[in-house]
Parts: sequence; structure tokens; C-alpha cells
Amino acid sequence: MDCNDLTLFITGPTYIRPDIRQAAALPEFGHRDTEAAVRFDTIFHGLRTLAGLGDDPASDGYHLALVPGSGSNALETLVRSLVDEEDTVLNISVGAFGDLFHNLAVFNGKKHVQHKVTPGRAMDLEVVEAILRTEAPAVVTMTHNETSTGVVHENIGQFCALARRYGALPLVDGVSIFGGVPVDLPAMGCAGYATATQKSLALPAGLGICFVSQDAVEKSQQVTNKGYVTDILRHLERAARHQTLSTPSTSLANQLAVQLEYILEEEGMSARFARHLRLRDQAHAFVAGLPGFELFAPQGHRSPTATAVQCPASMTAADLKAVKEAMRAKGYLFDTGYMKMNTALEAAGAPPVFRIGHMGDITEAMLGTFLETLAGVLQPFVRDAGP
Ligand SMILES: Cc1ncc(COP(=O)(O)O)c(C=O)c1O
Repeated sequence: MDCNDLTLFITGPTYIRPDIRQAAALPEFGHRDTEAAVRFDTIFHGLRTLAGLGDDPASDGYHLALVPGSGSNALETLVRSLVDEEDTVLNISVGAFGDLFHNLAVFNGKKHVQHKVTPGRAMDLEVVEAILRTEAPAVVTMTHNETSTGVVHENIGQFCALARRYGALPLVDGVSIFGGVPVDLPAMGCAGYATATQKSLALPAGLGICFVSQDAVEKSQQVTNKGYVTDILRHLERAARHQTLSTPSTSLANQLAVQLEYILEEEGMSARFARHLRLRDQAHAFVAGLPGFELFAPQGHRSPTATAVQCPASMTAADLKAVKEAMRAKGYLFDTGYMKMNTALEAAGAPPVFRIGHMGDITEAMLGTFLETLAGVLQPFVRDAGP
């Protein structure tokens, strides 16, 4: 196969370190054999540790299931398993991935209410509270880190507490942030938290990762029509033995085990989280040095894993495609932004937004070189932006 080895600065899948690429070549194994435990004991321990949990679900009331597929499979499992036929689910959407959570409710025939926030803004807890009061949903969904706009909700714990005060189970999409920031599920109070391997964990896609609280498990025992591979209880039966319900990718399992050992024992979790904050600052300093370009997310809600940048008025989505090709020629995969959102922005007379993915195993040196190269490619547009 004649393929390019580009360094990915998109918002997932992300760059994979050479040793993690090589870990894919470790021996395949039978997923019901004792050899599986060599990988999956490490995986369950590592993921639980990253979520602020101990090894024993009985000690903190949180259960972990690995759902073959990707983040969407984990999110759909939460929706199918925790929203009952008569329930209403409230989807708070601050962008494309909030819309995805909503679509999962709609396409699974759940009664739904959607609250859409203008892309580029964050959720407002007062507005959410007013909706909770009037709609009385049984379940409410929220995005921890909205990848399409670079908006992070560090107040996700307050959101969960609010939802619970109104009797709703809070389900959180943490797909593009888990592994890049501290997550403490018992302190946050999520009923469900879903993520995936190909973002801040810096691995190929192939597994959805689902955490559920004890009260969510109890709720799920009452829910009907959960499907088979979308039934969290079936996943948890297997997870109790550190297995998956259906056959996982054994190469990904090898890589995940090696990567989790690296995160916990070599880099260290706090060093990893601190690096993500420095990468965010580095991206912000880059944007500050580009007259006419602006951070899309509001202050206080700027993601440590993905920075969204709004272009000057003179730039178009077509210009971003040209930037992408220029960056490809230099060995990089540049992220032209979320296409549907850019189409809508341009239709409204606003300039498009591109993204810089700085999650996973990207180092400051790597980001520095990438941004230097990007600054050169963007230079004609900076001049066009005028004073
Ligand atoms: C916040 C968020 N949620 C959900 C998804 C969908 O996840 P997947 O592509 O792993 O199915 C993505 C993917 O980019 C995402 O960024």
C-alpha cells in the first residue's frame, strides 16, 4: 500500500506514538481465554484509575464496560439502556456532538426535548435549570468537551448535581477529553459517562468506553427494549470478568494495555493533564499572534484538547481546504473544521472555523513545529485581514 505518514493534528483520530503502533503487532489472543486477562486486567485498572475509581465497583459504585465499536456505540448504549419507553430525555446541545446525542435518542424512538445553544457558546446552568423545571425529563444528556466548537464544560459536576436535584439521570459524552484531563466520576456524579480510544487516549478507534453509576444500573434493570449489543447490563455481565460482550479488536486491546501502563507508570496522569493545559496555552498564544483570527470558544470554556479558531472575514471554507492541502505537502493533516457548522456559518455571512487538535500524545515540541508551519501557510490570509 502506498500511503502517506502524516502527523495528525485533527481532533481525532489522533497521532499514535511509534511504540504504540508497534504494540498492535503483539500476539493476537482468544478473548475468552486466560491470555485475555493479561491485557484486560490492565485495561480495566487503567481506565478506572483515569476515571477516579478504584478497582472494585462495590467500593465507589461505578461500573465500567468496554463496547466494541466507537464513542457513538457507547453513547447509544447509554441511551438505549437508560431511557425507558415513557421517559423524556432532554438533550442539551452546544454543537454537532450534542446533536449526535440527540439523534441517538430520536433514532431509537425515545421521547425527546432538545435545547440547542448557539455554536461557540457554552451551556448556561440557569437556562438548563429552567428547562429541567418545565420538562421534568427522566434523563438529560450533555457534552463534556464539544469537539466541533472547542468548548469545554469544566462545570460538568455542577450540571450533574443540578440534573439529579430535578430527579434526572445525567449522561455525559466525554469522547474527546477523557485521558487528557482529570475525571473523578464519583465527585462529578455522572450516571453515565462515555468515551472512546481514538482521542485523548491516543490509540486507533475500536472501543467505546462506558462508565455507569450504581443507580443507573438499577434504573436499567427496569428499562425495556434495550437491544442486545446496546444493553449495558449484558456488557456489565461480561465486564465483571474483564471481558467484552462481543469480540474486540485484539490489536487494539494490546495497544490499549500498553498505552495505559505508559500513562499511569511512565508519563504519569498529572504530568499528562498538565501537558494538555500547556498545549492549550501554546495554541492560544499562536492565535494571539495572528491578527484577524480569533478563538471561537468563550473565555473560561476553552478546551485543553482542541482549539477552534474563527478566521478573518476575508477567508472562506474553500481557503481552509487549500490550507489543508498545503499542510499535507508538509507532512501534516490539518483540520478544516466541522463542515456542517462552517456551511451554516458561511450561509449566515460569518467566516469559517478551523480546529487544532492537541490531545493525546502530542508534545509541545510537535505542536510548536506544526504551528510554525501553519503560521507560514496562513500568512497571506493574515495580511488580507488588514490592521
Ligand atoms: C464529543 C464527541 N462525541 C462523540 C463523537 C463520536 O464518536 P465516534 O466517532 O468515536 O463514534 C465524537 C467524535 O468526534 C466526539 O468528538
